[in-house]
Amino acid sequence: MADHDFDIPLVFRHRIRFTRDAFAPENPVVSGLFEAGRRSKVIVYVESEIVRLFPDLKEQIRGYLGALEDVTLTEIVEMPGGEACKVSKTQIMDGIGPIERNGIDRHSYLFCIGGGAFLDVIGLAAATAHRGVRLVRFPTTTLAQDDSGVGVKNGINAFGKKNFIGTFAVPYAVVNDFRFLYTQPDDACRNGLVEAVKVALVKDGAFFDWIEEHLRELWNLEPAFLEEAVERSAILHARHIALGGDPFETGNSRPLDFGHWSAHKLEQLTDFELSHAEAVSVGVALDTLYSARSGWLEAKHAERVIAVLRGLGTPVWHPALELRDGNGKRRVFNGLEEFREHLGGELTVLMLRGVGEGFDVHELDEALLESCMDELKKRAVTAAA
Ligand SMILES: NC(=O)c1ccc[n+]([C@@H]2O[C@H](COP(=O)([O-])OP(=O)(O)OC[C@H]3O[C@@H](n4cnc5c(N)ncnc54)[C@H](O)[C@@H]3O)[C@@H](O)[C@H]2O)c1
Ligand SMILES: [Zn+2]
Repeated sequence: MADHDFDIPLVFRHRIRFTRDAFAPENPVVSGLFEAGRRSKVIVYVESEIVRLFPDLKEQIRGYLGALEDVTLTEIVEMPGGEACKVSKTQIMDGIGPIERNGIDRHSYLFCIGGGAFLDVIGLAAATAHRGVRLVRFPTTTLAQDDSGVGVKNGINAFGKKNFIGTFAVPYAVVNDFRFLYTQPDDACRNGLVEAVKVALVKDGAFFDWIEEHLRELWNLEPAFLEEAVERSAILHARHIALGGDPFETGNSRPLDFGHWSAHKLEQLTDFELSHAEAVSVGVALDTLYSARSGWLEAKHAERVIAVLRGLGTPVWHPALELRDGNGKRRVFNGLEEFREHLGGELTVLMLRGVGEGFDVHELDEALLESCMDELKKRAVTAAA
């Protein structure tokens, strides 16, 4: 009686495109995605807020896809987005229903247009209906374009935990249409750049220098700078996923989650009043200061990071860091255990030893973290005064 072990190699193509006005009749990006020589059905899901902000969009999609010879548009489904849709128990089934009723199969395409939360929920529906139909994401927020949209995950929140239910699934394609960025409120548009700061800090010091140098243009949301930041960040994320050796996060290290152990917890503790981007900003500030206080990162670099976050107008501290449980322990520290649990195995948190250089640690000193939180509070309070 022998053991029979098989390695199953798989290769995915991750198609990432940057464009403007993807559904303008002359734009070749979307039409170029379809598999040649095969009739294809397309179903489109659009977040309600996007339909409201772009009243012509549905008509443009109908016109664009209608002009393609081998493509049949079956239905445009409108559903609410935002973090609330990741908590709704019915949203997944609401997403799957139209796939079934339109006879969408594995050779069909599901287009999903919306923010990161909407993409996560509909992405889960796409990954599970028929065990996976081709998903083409059209992220509409800065954060979804510069980070989550090019990721290979989807998920919904459950048991009070972020992304507890979800799958790893490489989308068929991601189309980052810059047109969508400009209807966001200015602060939300800027906040999403925090994921660009994060990935620069762990992967690309020259990109961080560039952000620092162009803070004013980024604050002003000058299109050339905003779009360059989004594109560079998205590519860094995608490159790590494709070439980093662990696309489905089976190992312990998750460099793209720098600053996220506290961020995810802060989102929950504030009942999602703090957006993902704002929470990540606090988390990045905290882990950067901790890296400096631990002697890994030069203090002057920590100051640069905090200055960049503040220059973008994102928070470096939040009162929820001070919430305590019945035993007097800061509730944010439960985020560490949840982070470990989500991954399994040993606790692994990325810290910085340079701008553009992360490394893994397996233990955190809670007293030192607390003193970093107090220090960030002092700065936040002084700045507000
Ligand atoms: N799957 C992943 O790998 C991954 C990675 C990072 C983050 N995420 C998730 O992404 C979510 C956050 O995404 P988000 O920051 O895009 O937030 P979001 O999807 O919650 O959108 C924020 C708000 O902006 C609105 N909106 C969307 N597009 C708009 C536009 N173009 N103009 C104006 N308003 C618009 C939405 O309706 C919503 O109210 C979180 O749930 C986070 O956990 C997932
Ligand atoms: Zn994030």
